Order: sequence, then C-alpha cells, then structure tokens
Amino acid sequence: MNSALTIIPTYNESENIESIVERVLAVGRSDVLIVDDASPDGTGDIADRLATASGRVHVLHRVAKDGLGRAYLAGFAWGRRRGYDVLIEMDADGSHQPESLPIMLDQLATADIVLGSRWVPGGRVVNWPLHRKVLSIGGNVYARLALGIDVRDATGGYRAYRASALDRIGLDGVASQGYCFQLDLLWRGLERELRVVEVPITFVERELGVSKMSGNIVRESLVMVTMWGIRRRVSALRELVLHHRRLPSVRANTRRLAPS
Ligand code: GDD
Ligand code: MN
Repeated sequence: MNSALTIIPTYNESENIESIVERVLAVGRSDVLIVDDASPDGTGDIADRLATASGRVHVLHRVAKDGLGRAYLAGFAWGRRRGYDVLIEMDADGSHQPESLPIMLDQLATADIVLGSRWVPGGRVVNWPLHRKVLSIGGNVYARLALGIDVRDATGGYRAYRASALDRIGLDGVASQGYCFQLDLLWRGLERELRVVEVPITFVERELGVSKMSGNIVRESLVMVTMWGIRRRVSALRELVLHHRRLPSVRANTRRLAPS
C-alpha cells in the first residue's frame, strides 16, 4: 500500500487540531486532510496555518455544520480525486491514537476495511462516563442482533479503508448524516462481502472541548439499523422462496487481530 490520507473532521476543535495533526505527521504513514465545517472557534484558521507549514496537510472548508457523515463523504471524494489508495478516518480530539496507525495499516494487506475496535480483547476505553459505555455497548449489541453481523465495535470512528473498498461500497447512495455513517459504511461493506478486521485500540476520552454526540444521532442509528435488519431478512426470504438460494453470510469475512 503506498499513499494514505488521514481524514480528520472538525467542528470546534481549536484546542485539539494542532496536536493531533502533529502526531499523525510524526507517525509518517499518511498525509492529512482536515474537513472543517466553518467552526466558529477558528479551527479552520488553525488548519490553514498547519497546511501552510506542511505540504502533507490539506484543508477542506465547508460552509456550515452538516454532520459527520457528509464531512467524511466530502473528504473521501477529495482523496479519491487525488489518487490516494488508503483513506483513514480519525477524530480530532485525541481519542484515536495516531500511534496505532502502523498496526492498522499493515492489516490492509489482507483486508479491505480495518476497524479500530474498543470492544475486542485488548481494546480499551479510558475516561468514558458510564452512560457512554452503556450507549456504545448497547448499540453494538443491538447492531449485532438486528443485522446478524459478527463485529464487536461497529460504531467506532477510527478506521482505514482501501480506496477500492469505498468504490465497492458505492458512496453515492450513503445518506446517513450523524455517527450512524460509521455503521452504514460497515454494513454496506459486509453486504458486499468485503474483508473486515477488528484491531484492538485504546480510546481515550477527550480532555479539551466537548462531544458533538446528540439524541438525534442515536435515534438516526436506531431507526436505520432496524430498517436494514428488516430489509436483509426480507431479501433472504425472497432469495430462498423464489430462487432456492441463500444470501451470502455477513459474518464470513470478519476477523479479529489478537491483542499484542
Ligand atoms: N466537520 C464536522 N462536521 N465534524 C464533526 C461534526 C460535523 O458536523 N460532528 C462531529 N464532528 C467531528 C468532531 O469535531 C470530532 O473530530 C469527531 O467528529 C468526533 O466527534 P466527537 O463529538 O468527539 O465524538 P464522540 O467522542 O462523542 O464519539 C465517538 O464515538 C462515536 C460512537 O462510537 C467517536 O469516535 C465517533 O466517531 C463514534 O462514532
Ligand atoms: Mn470525541
């Protein structure tokens, strides 16, 4: 794998953006694209300054806060146009450790999608309040049951995709706005029989700034997962009754990296 791009979406991350970009550059495995949604706190200006200082840092300015999903779609499109082979998702707030990138990227030799996973053996969450743990674990249990998948952390936002995987997924049809975007892409990938590997990560809750998670984001995920689950079961039934065939398993191409 040669050229990789780490995409960092930002909304009011002025206290975090500089340090995360420095850490990604220090790892030295990728360029950086900051996708800023006109943050009122001046994150975009800091991003511009970082891009002036390093040829490996780029900025995409969007006109208004428009959700994590659309920020990533814009970032992926930017990266695809410039021919990057690997597209990485990373939060700006320091929750995702750039130092885990080499282990994750190495897995792309035999996988299409690498998930940084908090909920596999070896994965950890530091400083999360109980309600966030309950929400994340509960959401993942629900996604596993509703969709029949074998992934422990389907909602996380630290990932690496082969560009070809994004092409297979077909980003044009993706409409999820909030953090549901993460589940959406994974589900589309599994339905298309892409190879998925979970790599244990340590997720450290932000020390500066605030989370943008909201009730709407949770509701969007719940509705969408339920709908995808029903749709899949209807398709499976139709295949069986009309064509005497089984749909390919959405569990077959998933594996986990053992803790190091
Ligand atoms: N451009 C843009 N536009 N960026 C956004 C927006 C938006 O509308 N909303 C959030 N972000 C950025 C934040 O600035 C941050 O860099 C990243 O998205 C994650 O936002 P947080 O608000 O810090 O998320 P979290 O810590 O509550 O949630 C974590 O867990 C979720 C559920 O597992 C993240 O890891 C999410 O990626 C994950 O889906
Ligand atoms: Mn966060």
